[in-house]
Amino acid sequence: MAIDPRIDTLRLPQHVAVIMDGNGRWAKQRGKLRTFGHTNGVKAVRETVETAAEIGIPFLTLYAFSTENWNRPKMEVSALMTLLVRTIHKETKTLMDNNIRLNAIGDLDSLPKSCHRELNEAMERTSGNTRMTLTLALSYSAKWELVQMVRSIVKDARAGALNERDVNEALIAQRLCTAGMPDVELLIRTSGEHRVSNFLLWQIAYAEFHFTEKLWPDFGAADLEQAIIDFQGRERRFGKISEQVREVV
Ligand code: FPP
Repeated sequence: MAIDPRIDTLRLPQHVAVIMDGNGRWAKQRGKLRTFGHTNGVKAVRETVETAAEIGIPFLTLYAFSTENWNRPKMEVSALMTLLVRTIHKETKTLMDNNIRLNAIGDLDSLPKSCHRELNEAMERTSGNTRMTLTLALSYSAKWELVQMVRSIVKDARAGALNERDVNEALIAQRLCTAGMPDVELLIRTSGEHRVSNFLLWQIAYAEFHFTEKLWPDFGAADLEQAIIDFQGRERRFGKISEQVREVV
């Protein structure tokens, strides 16, 4: 694939996160069950992952299943889990061929055993890959993650291994599921919704948001490229004023 020449490969967002939304509506528009939308969503996942790797994005994180998604009808939850297991099993070879490491964040113990096992195997097999880290957020919510982080700090403090002054931004970042990953620079949400939906709240502190009307199964290479072009056209001030930012560049 030829990368869109408008993309400056020297100024890529180091971490792109995606809220994949609209599978249900996509299926409904076609008079089909919601699960048909999820099945077609897998194609968009594949294309997004391959395109991100080709462009040279080092970290891509996809919101595949939220803590709140457990409240969906039983049949849909079960179909999503089956789809996950199948997709991970089927795509591990593609991940190996493309030198992509698979990672997962979230309350992974709450996933069905088969899903957890498939995930662990794929993560183990791809652990030496270096081109891009693909993280799936599964049974994930940012509030859940923040609670885990606070618990781990309190535990160490009670054991005398930490004191109040040790708690700073770096320590907190180390105790989140995304430890060792850069903060999100570009957050994409499909389907015309303008919400964060409990996703990576700490990590998106300075992210640029890109919203598209496209429903997730229709999202493809050109849409990811457009999001990156949009990102590169923004002035990121990080609290400074425009003149200060331009002096640095
Ligand atoms: C949002 O659409 C999508 C999901 C909750 C699931 C995402 C799952 C996939 C794309 C398939 C499998 C993924 C991987 C990583 C293998 P929605 O159901 O909320 O759509 P709606 O808002 O139109 O109802």
